[in-house]
Amino acid sequence: MRSYRVPMAKASDMTKSAGVPSYTVPGLTPEEGLRVSAILQNRLNALTDLHLTLKHVHWNVVGPHFIAVHQMLDPQVDTAREFADEVAERIATLGVAPIGTPGAIVADRDWDDYSIGRAGAIEHLAALDLVYSGVIADYREAIEEVGEVDPVTEDLLIGQVGQLEQYHWFVRAHLETAGGELKSAGSHTEQQASAAVDGSTDAA
Ligand SMILES: [Fe+2]
Repeated sequence: MRSYRVPMAKASDMTKSAGVPSYTVPGLTPEEGLRVSAILQNRLNALTDLHLTLKHVHWNVVGPHFIAVHQMLDPQVDTAREFADEVAERIATLGVAPIGTPGAIVADRDWDDYSIGRAGAIEHLAALDLVYSGVIADYREAIEEVGEVDPVTEDLLIGQVGQLEQYHWFVRAHLETAGGELKSAGSHTEQQASAAVDGSTDAA
């Protein structure tokens, strides 16, 4: 029977085959267009991963804060999908083919899959705090790099990360004590963060 799935290596090769485009936006060299698009491809991978991960949490959250967190996450999913679309179309505008297939994302990302299955709301949010921290820190680096050659792409990413930072606050507000401390502070893995708030139904 024919397999639906293709080997991941082929998808990865697709990404690596991106060469210097024959045209790019006016004012950039084709080499600069390629450099900016490579940075954007990494953001596209992160955003696609993020909106899938947020849906996974939307489906797997249980417990007393179920409906609040379940419903809070859908606008975040929609926004991450919109941002992925903006980034992919910027790559195409730069003359390079954006890669949106799952295998390419898995092959090219340098982070692991989200690791929490069915769990309470606060446990998931403690893990999502780390997810957003990673995505946002990488945005800051991307902004710094593209800012050297393309202020238009820099502006796009700055606008996006401001919204992501607000969503990060929505997540963290559930983990915050009245004294302003994060209950999962100091955790370096999703499992650690989730365990740090295990059994907590009210972080206040
Ligand atoms: Fe839903």
